[in-house]
Parts: sequence; C-alpha cells; structure tokens
Amino acid sequence: MAQVQSAAQPAAPPPNWVASRHPLGWLIDRLLAIEPLRQLMFLQARRLIIRTAERRGIAWRARREELQQQAEPLLALSTDPATTTPAYYRARFHAYDAGNLCWAAAGEAEQATDAMALRVWPGETLEPEQAQRRLRQAIFAAIEPNLTSPVRSALDIGCSVGVGTLALKQWLDAREGTDVTVEGLDLSPQMLAVARVRDPEGRIRCWHHAAAEATGLPVASVDLITLQFVCHELPAEATRAVLREAARLLPPGGVLALVDQDPDSKVIRRLPAPIATLLKSTEPYLEEYFSLDLPGAMGEAGFRDVRSQACDPRHRVLVAVR
Ligand SMILES: C[S@@+](CC[C@H](N)C(=O)[O-])C[C@H]1O[C@@H](n2cnc3c(N)ncnc32)[C@H](O)[C@@H]1O
Repeated sequence: MAQVQSAAQPAAPPPNWVASRHPLGWLIDRLLAIEPLRQLMFLQARRLIIRTAERRGIAWRARREELQQQAEPLLALSTDPATTTPAYYRARFHAYDAGNLCWAAAGEAEQATDAMALRVWPGETLEPEQAQRRLRQAIFAAIEPNLTSPVRSALDIGCSVGVGTLALKQWLDAREGTDVTVEGLDLSPQMLAVARVRDPEGRIRCWHHAAAEATGLPVASVDLITLQFVCHELPAEATRAVLREAARLLPPGGVLALVDQDPDSKVIRRLPAPIATLLKSTEPYLEEYFSLDLPGAMGEAGFRDVRSQACDPRHRVLVAVR
C-alpha cells in the first residue's frame, strides 16, 4: 500500500535535471535551438514513438484519421466564441507547433494517453486498454478514502479527449450506484470535438470549452473536481489561478483531486539527462511544475487536509478538501 503523506511534510525538491546544465543536456539544448535540427530530431522522435506504439497494439495513425474525420463536423459545437485563450496556452506542446490547438494533437491524444499508460509499467506485457484501466483505477483508488459524502456531480478539468473523464464517470456511477453528473472542461475545441466522438451515448453531460482559471461556472456547483495530468502543462501562476477557481466551484466539504508527475518518483528523478532535456523541450512549463510546492499552493488557494499518495511508479495523487 503506497504511503499517504500529509501536506505538513516538506515538499520534495525538484529532480536534479530540472535546473541542471548537465553537459550532455546542455549540448542537446543548444542543438534544439537550431530550428532545422530541432525539426529533424522531433521528426525522428515522433516516428519512433508511433512505431513503438503501433508495435504495442495502438493503432496510432489509423485511429487519428478516424477520429479527425468524425470530429471535424463537431468543431463549431465544441467552440465557445466568448472563451479567451491565455497566451501561455498557445506555446508549442508535445512537438506540435500549434500546441493543443490542432487536429494532429487532438487526433493523437487518445493514442498518446495509452502509450503513456504502457510506459508506466515497462516490464509488463499489458495491452493498451489494460494499462489505461490500471492507471485510472490506481488514481481513483487513491481518491476514494478521501470521499466522505456522496458525489452527485464531478467536473474533470483539462479533460482533453475525455479518456479520464469517461473513466471517472464509470467509477463514480459504480461507486454511487446511480447516474452521477460528470462534465469535462478544456481549452482546446479540437480536443473537445474528439471527446464528443468518443462519447457517442452522451454519458458526459457537458463538454465545456473554457479556461480552467475562468470557467464561468456557478459558485459551489460541483462536489468533486479532478485535474488529471494538467498541472505540468501550466505555468506556476496559472496553476495557482486554477486552484483558486476550483476552490470557488466547490462547496465547503467538496473535494479536489489532482494527479500528475511525482517529484518523489525514482523513475522520474533518475531520467537520463538527454531524455530529460528532450522532455523539457516538449513540455514548456515542466520546470515550473517541479519547482512549485503544489500542496502548499493548494493550501494557499483555500484547501485543507491536503494529502499526497503515489498511485503508480511515476505519478502522485493530491487530494484536498475545500
Ligand atoms: C495532458 S492533457 C490531460 C489529459 C487528460 N486529463 C487525461 O487524464 O487523459 C492536458 C489537457 O489540459 C488542457 N489544458 C491546459 N491548460 C488548460 C487551461 N488553462 N484550461 C483548460 N484546459 C487546459 C489541455 O488542452 C489538454 O487537453
């Protein structure tokens, strides 16, 4: 059973590679600054990622075509023209020049999420769906002991194409023995359009196009908020704003649960310098994520009883009460 820590314990220092200028990391950083070289390296890395995923049973390219084709007609429905997109969100993410605001990112998010789940247990021969199920079950198992009253509604912030949102819905319905109202929220209309395709029965009540820090949703309107793998994509100041918004949306006693990379994870702390440098070049706010005292920021945003628990070899779940 993984250890549960209270936020009173000191936060883990960031992994060495976060600010390190390891000679090899430094060299790769310099090479990545040369645009044609960066494009070449990313192209090679991308080919490798796709080939590895397809070998492990993820139909990366075929699924991208299928999802994009079905999602394109849903773009207008998934776009709220009143939504303001913060400048930091337009950064290049995951080697997509348009970050999360493009069809390539949206059409490949499901496959990338499955590939990520497979990487969590590299020594095991899991099918992609098994790895995904195990990833989510471990997250929800860490949240479970912190829910002391029934959950009638939940909001999955940064829902992307809905992989975690649909898993959350399935878990909560089973837990409560009823049809729990679950909604998703994201800033990418393309991701939301793909989420709608992946939810043909409309099990998710609403896919909101909004910024996590300014949702426009009513005060104290939801019992549980999840932020699954979102904070490492945010500058520290945006994370603080999102936490304040989550505190506004939850009533007293409401629960916030977030899962993301674990600064205490041995796997993450031991990442070789070249890999860490490549990773940082595709995740513009990763250094800020690891440098931020997230439990402390949750406390500052108005949460209490912040608890931290490793849910798998790479990730931790933080749960707090409003
Ligand atoms: C790594 S993905 C999340 C994956 C998903 N939650 C899951 O569990 O599979 C991060 C998501 O956060 C969204 N995001 C990042 N910043 C956001 C913001 N300020 N407001 C809303 N969504 C945001 C991105 O568009 C992206 O879809």
